[in-house]
Amino acid sequence: MKKFKKDLLSIYDLDMQQIWSLIGKAVKLKKSGYTDKFKGKVFGLIFEKPSTRTMVSFSTAIAQAGGTPLVLDPQKLQTKRGESVSDTAKVLSRYLDGIIIRAFKHEYVEEFAKYSTIPVINALTDAEHPCQILGDLMTIIEKFNIKSFKELKKLKIAFVGDANNVANSWLALSAVLGLNLTLLGAKQYAPKKDLLDKALITAKKTNAVINVSTDLDDIKNSDVIYTDVWTSMGAEKEEKKRIKALSPYQVNINMLKKANKNCIVMHCLPAVRDEEISTEVMDIQETNILDQAENRLHIQKAILLELVK
Ligand code: CP
Ligand code: NVA
Repeated sequence: MKKFKKDLLSIYDLDMQQIWSLIGKAVKLKKSGYTDKFKGKVFGLIFEKPSTRTMVSFSTAIAQAGGTPLVLDPQKLQTKRGESVSDTAKVLSRYLDGIIIRAFKHEYVEEFAKYSTIPVINALTDAEHPCQILGDLMTIIEKFNIKSFKELKKLKIAFVGDANNVANSWLALSAVLGLNLTLLGAKQYAPKKDLLDKALITAKKTNAVINVSTDLDDIKNSDVIYTDVWTSMGAEKEEKKRIKALSPYQVNINMLKKANKNCIVMHCLPAVRDEEISTEVMDIQETNILDQAENRLHIQKAILLELVK
């Protein structure tokens, strides 16, 4: 297996073997729970946007591995007063063992990583949410008792709604692993051309099947229906427009009826009930969605243990 890069900023930072290995590690950690590998190590968490799952699961993962999480409020750091990202990254690298960042601009985490000598992990940007998707893959592997890539490739995964950061990471993951992904939603909220083109180039090498559609019938034969909010953090001004365009794509019982019998519904949360997903479907699928949220803890512990030695 190839050596991991210093940072995890995008799914494209990983290859097939590395992803498979991270999932294997996370499954083992889910059983064992605690380790002391991070004894004496300190991690910084800088979150420009709100977070419940990512902030708490990273902090818990670090604590369960014997380390200390430090939540650094960006409003209270000198970056707020204009200190450069490069100076901040260089200085924090002298104190910390790893840094986890949630930012608006993807370029911010890239710049931070460039000047840091310690691993930087993307905890969501406007462009991607790689840790989310790796945890989601772990959940799918568990739910369908998947033992090989071959079995994984047979599943039809549908991402329904806004082609946001989470969808972008699904696109990247499907391309890298050669999965069967349908991105279903309104035309104006389809994936950006550059991101789709990038995925399709990788998809050629891995035989991934990537289908972008506005046709609700394309939900047929799905094994996984995945959705996320229609209005992501930072896009609040467009909320009304988005609801109008995306309302046909609500994940509800009617949509579920068209999919495979054992289809599972996933949502990265937080959800807006009765907008992108009906309360009824949320309630029926609660266990899957909570298992999905739990797996963030295990996969992120695996990522940290892999990158921070
Ligand atoms: N799914 C997710 O990243 O949730 P939070 O915004 O609560 O971290
Ligand atoms: N797409 C959502 C994901 C939240 C975890 C957002 O960026 O707000």
